[in-house]
Amino acid sequence: MEQYTFSVPTVFGLEGLCADELRRLELGNVRAENGRVLFESGPEGLARANLNLRTGERVLLRVGRFPAETFDELFEGARALPWEQFIPRDGAFPVKGFCLDSRLFAMSACQSILKKAVARRLGEHYGLETLPETGEVYQLQFSVMKDVAELYLDTTGPGLHKRGYRAVGVAAPLRETLAAAMVMLSRYRGRDPFCDPFCGSGTIAIEAALIARNQAPGLDRSFSAQKWGFLPREIWLDEADRAMSAEYQGEYDIWGGDVDPQAVSIARHNAQLAGVEDLVRFEVADALTFHRDVPAGRVVTNPPYGERIMDKGEAEELYAGFGKAWRGMPQGWSLYLLSSHTEFERTFGVQADKKRKLYNGMLKCDLFQYLGKRGERK
Ligand SMILES: C[S@@+](CC[C@H](N)C(=O)[O-])C[C@H]1O[C@@H](n2cnc3c(N)ncnc32)[C@H](O)[C@@H]1O
Repeated sequence: MEQYTFSVPTVFGLEGLCADELRRLELGNVRAENGRVLFESGPEGLARANLNLRTGERVLLRVGRFPAETFDELFEGARALPWEQFIPRDGAFPVKGFCLDSRLFAMSACQSILKKAVARRLGEHYGLETLPETGEVYQLQFSVMKDVAELYLDTTGPGLHKRGYRAVGVAAPLRETLAAAMVMLSRYRGRDPFCDPFCGSGTIAIEAALIARNQAPGLDRSFSAQKWGFLPREIWLDEADRAMSAEYQGEYDIWGGDVDPQAVSIARHNAQLAGVEDLVRFEVADALTFHRDVPAGRVVTNPPYGERIMDKGEAEELYAGFGKAWRGMPQGWSLYLLSSHTEFERTFGVQADKKRKLYNGMLKCDLFQYLGKRGERK
C-alpha cells in the first residue's frame, strides 16, 4: 500500500507525549520536532492517529517538500506535485499556512501563488479552465521554514481537541488536548482514586475517564478525510474496531468538584455526552475543605490563575487555603497543578518536586508536580 509522511502539530511542550502516543499506536518512524511530530504510514495510519490521539492537534498528510527561496520556486515546486492523485475534478482546495525564518515571508502572497500553482496543475490534468470547487474540501496547509516549503492536506478538519463532548463552556475551560496531557503526565492508569477539586466543565476528569478505559477520543466525531475518494473506505471502520477492541472494562474512582453549581451541572452534562457519566462523579464542593482518607491517589487540577477568573490577590488567597488543605492529605497522594501564577509555590506553601513548562493558549504555565510518597505514613 502507498506510504505517506504525516505531521501532527502539537501545543509547544507536548511533542514528546504525542510521539509516545504514536509509537504506542504502532506507527512507523516517529520523530518529535519543535511543535510537531512526524510519522510514516499507509492510509490506515491517518485513520488510527485521528481516532486515537489525545495530545495532537491535527493529522496532516505531506504531499511534498522542496526548497523555495523565490515565488517562482514556490510556484514550480507546487505545480510539480501530483495533486490529481488526491484532489478530484470538483474538489475544493482552500489554502492556508505560515512563513518563518525564510526569504519568502509574505504569507498571503505565498497563499495565492500556491492556490494558482495547484489550480494550474489540476486544470491541465482535468482539461478545465476554471475548476468548480463544488465538491469535498481538501484543506491545503503550507509552511515555509528556513527556505523549505512543505505542503500538506489536512485530514482532520476541526482540531482534534474538539472531541464533541463539550457542548457548553465555562469561563476558562482547558483545551482537551492539554487536559489529557496533564493526566498522562501524572501517569494515571485508572488504578488509584483521581480528583480534580477545581473541575469547571469537567475536562480533566472526563479525559481521565477516557484514559482509564483506554477509549479512543475520536470515536464520536467525523474527520475531513472520511470523505476523500483516494483513501480506502474500510480504514475508518477497521481502525474504529481496532480501537474499541482495546477498551478496558472496569470500575474507577474519578471525582470532580467545583464551588460553582452551574459548572458542576455543565460537567455532568459533558460527561454524559462523552459517555463516561458512569465513571465520573461531579459535586459542588469547596477546594479549601478538600480531604480524602484513603492513603494514596492523584489530584490533577487547573485552579484560577488570577488572569481571567479572579485577580492575582484572590488567586493567592485561594492557593494558600488549598495549600493548607493539601498539607492535611495522606502522604501517598500526588498533586499535578497547572498555573501561570509566578508566586504559586510561595503562596501554596510547599515547593514542587518538579515543574514542567506548558502553554495554556498563549499563557506560559508551569505544571507544579508534588510526588506522593508511597507507604511512608498515612
Ligand atoms: C480555570 S477553571 C477550571 C476549568 C476546567 N479545567 C475546565 O476545563 O473547564 C477554575 C475553576 O475553579 C473554580 N473555583 C474557584 N474557587 C474554588 C474553590 N474555592 N473551590 C472549588 N472550585 C473553585 C471556579 O468556579 C472555576 O470553575
